[in-house]
Amino acid sequence: MNTHTFNKVCIVGLGLIGASLAQAIKDNQLAKTLVAVDKHNQSLIDAQQDGLIQQGSDTLANVIKDSDLIVIATPVKIAHKVFIDIKNAIDDGLIDSTCVITDVGSTKASVINEAKQVFNNHLPIGFVPAHPIAGAENSGYHARNPKLFVNHNVILCKLDSTHETAYQQVYKLWQDVGASVMEMDVEHHDKVLAFTSHLPHLLAFNLVEKLAKHDDNMDIFRYAAGGFRDFTRIAASDPTMWHDIFLANKSAIIEALDQYSQNLQSLKQTIINQNSTELMGMLGRAQAARKHFGHMLNSTPYTEDPKMTQNYQIEPLVKSNKINGTVKVPGDKSISHRSIMFGSLATGTTKVSGFLEGEDAMATLQAFRDMGVTIEGPNNGEVTIHGLGINGLKASQTPLYMGNSGTSMRLLSGILSAQQFDSVMTGDVSLSKRPMERVAKPLREMGAKIQTTGEKGTAPISITGNQALKGIDYDMPVASAQVKSCLLLASLWAKGTTTIIEPEICRDHTERMLTAFGYPVQVEKLKDGNKITVTGGGEMTACDIQVPSDISSAAFFMVAAAIAGEGSELTLSQVGMNPTRTGVIDILKLMGANISLSNETKIGDEPVADITIKSSSLQGINIPEHLVPLAIDEFPVLFVAASCAVGQTVLTGAKELRVKESDRIAVMADGLTTLDIDCTVTDDGIIIEGKGTGNNAQPIFTGGYILSHHDHRIAMSFTIASLRASDQITIEGTETVNTSFPNFAELANKIGMNIVENSQK
Ligand code: S3P
Repeated sequence: MNTHTFNKVCIVGLGLIGASLAQAIKDNQLAKTLVAVDKHNQSLIDAQQDGLIQQGSDTLANVIKDSDLIVIATPVKIAHKVFIDIKNAIDDGLIDSTCVITDVGSTKASVINEAKQVFNNHLPIGFVPAHPIAGAENSGYHARNPKLFVNHNVILCKLDSTHETAYQQVYKLWQDVGASVMEMDVEHHDKVLAFTSHLPHLLAFNLVEKLAKHDDNMDIFRYAAGGFRDFTRIAASDPTMWHDIFLANKSAIIEALDQYSQNLQSLKQTIINQNSTELMGMLGRAQAARKHFGHMLNSTPYTEDPKMTQNYQIEPLVKSNKINGTVKVPGDKSISHRSIMFGSLATGTTKVSGFLEGEDAMATLQAFRDMGVTIEGPNNGEVTIHGLGINGLKASQTPLYMGNSGTSMRLLSGILSAQQFDSVMTGDVSLSKRPMERVAKPLREMGAKIQTTGEKGTAPISITGNQALKGIDYDMPVASAQVKSCLLLASLWAKGTTTIIEPEICRDHTERMLTAFGYPVQVEKLKDGNKITVTGGGEMTACDIQVPSDISSAAFFMVAAAIAGEGSELTLSQVGMNPTRTGVIDILKLMGANISLSNETKIGDEPVADITIKSSSLQGINIPEHLVPLAIDEFPVLFVAASCAVGQTVLTGAKELRVKESDRIAVMADGLTTLDIDCTVTDDGIIIEGKGTGNNAQPIFTGGYILSHHDHRIAMSFTIASLRASDQITIEGTETVNTSFPNFAELANKIGMNIVENSQK
């Protein structure tokens, strides 16, 4: 049975939008009858012949009788006349006074004013002003496209006079033709559209017309290639329609033009002055904004397409589960973040090589661009940062979007608390669940004004600038390098000295980088952790940074080689060997892994080495608690190693794993159970019953479907498990792998694995 939403729809104006909507209404069977009004007789004849409308006329009164929806799809200027016709139709009893009336005009205040004049300020309760943000440079009935509105935004304005039922009907109509519907107030709509639509059209028309009048016009048009064509595509749009819009939205457009003219003048001055840093900054910010604003609006990772999800399907290696090769994993995530932060706050130009072009580090990079820093790149891991000095950051015009990155949000909390301006930080679904009071609380002790959200103290975080910070002595309750780094960064602006005591040693990249940038820092060894002391008021000087390969990414391949078939061997070249990060090697060695280091050297302030790891029979162990902070990110893949070991592995003192990108204890336990591993979750760890027998040819895991819970390391760990699986493993949500290891699947396939990446919208 067909349940039409409307009985009879009257489309006034069969141009591109009107005819496309009519076609979409017909194709989706949303109306029993469709009629149209248009001054072009031919369009009406064609529409009738095409079976699109049942009746057409150039006079509204001839077709309107008993319509329950009227769509005004004429140029904005004609709306006045249409409202008069509609009023007459109501007065003559042709239609009900509650009939739903909507329009598709690109300006809203002017259309509503026209209606108010005609209806003596008593607007019909069925009137719902609307604006589909969809169009094409082609116009007219024959350009119609019923899919024109699919995945496009439609803005509805709810007026005081609008009846809820009418509003809901129009809302549903647009949803039914595939659009995303949103509400906006009238004035805001007109302002926003002046910038995002009207100004670009005005500029495109203007540029083409000026060039057409130019003396060399033939040559200009003959040789005008991509850039000109792309920029001016919209100048082929309907002049009447745009003429009406420019006049109808006059005041907002004038304001937009004024602002734009000022921008152009300052751009001109930048070029006259040959101010290369400023020019590069503007271009870099524009490029990044063009690429990323969709992700920021949608709170999704910085993947190419914000609506894209991905899964891995991994076939077991049936003939032999042997893997071999040399792998260069990407740059260290922690060091990449810090290189951008320190480079931005230093005086002079910092050149970074080996920068991790993953989403997390890109979130940090983007945040500093948003705060006015000129950053070139990344190009093949090379980034050039034109530092603004310790007091040079400027307020971002928009909230700073941190994507999935806890490190960005926590470290930036320290920096932002000390600035002269207010800031807001937001993040994706996973980051918005993670605890932020652990940094907010000690920052408040330093005098910061920082507010987290909700009972659990999560993102968004709002920071009020211009607070005088003072140094504190802080005994950290958890061994967190992020908390330590946040406070060390805040202390650079604090009056006096800040002393931090860590309960256990945790990664010290911040301390090393402070030294590299010439900022004094004292580190004193205590019984368990270190005591770190910094005095505020100093400055940093730019230096070059080479980022070593990330041991946390290398860990996946270490475990892969260890659990793979006999004869497997992988070499991981020039991996960071900072002693606060090598817990994974110590744990694997305790389990009996065959690991050796070669080419040990230092790049910058960080030790590096080649790691060679061969297949071996692993043993279950009790993991020493002091190694937990030194291998904090590697546990998911170590659980895979433990599952392949002979006997039980017990992890304790690792509660922190519960507040990473996911609850890594619970999520890993779920996945392992799916793959038939016996494990017991404890409050601060896990007990895993290893199924190893000493023979690496035997499968350990079954196949299965794994949920990654927006956690890159969960996705990669279960990918490695497939080396010892009897059947296919499918892992959903693998798009998050991009946060730390963009070419993971490619490298894994290179050493002999069988990963198929499937992307869906
Ligand atoms: C990081 C510290 C660790 C780690 C994270 C990166 C850093 O977090 O898990 O991936 O760069 O400082 P915690 O310090 O909160 O343990």
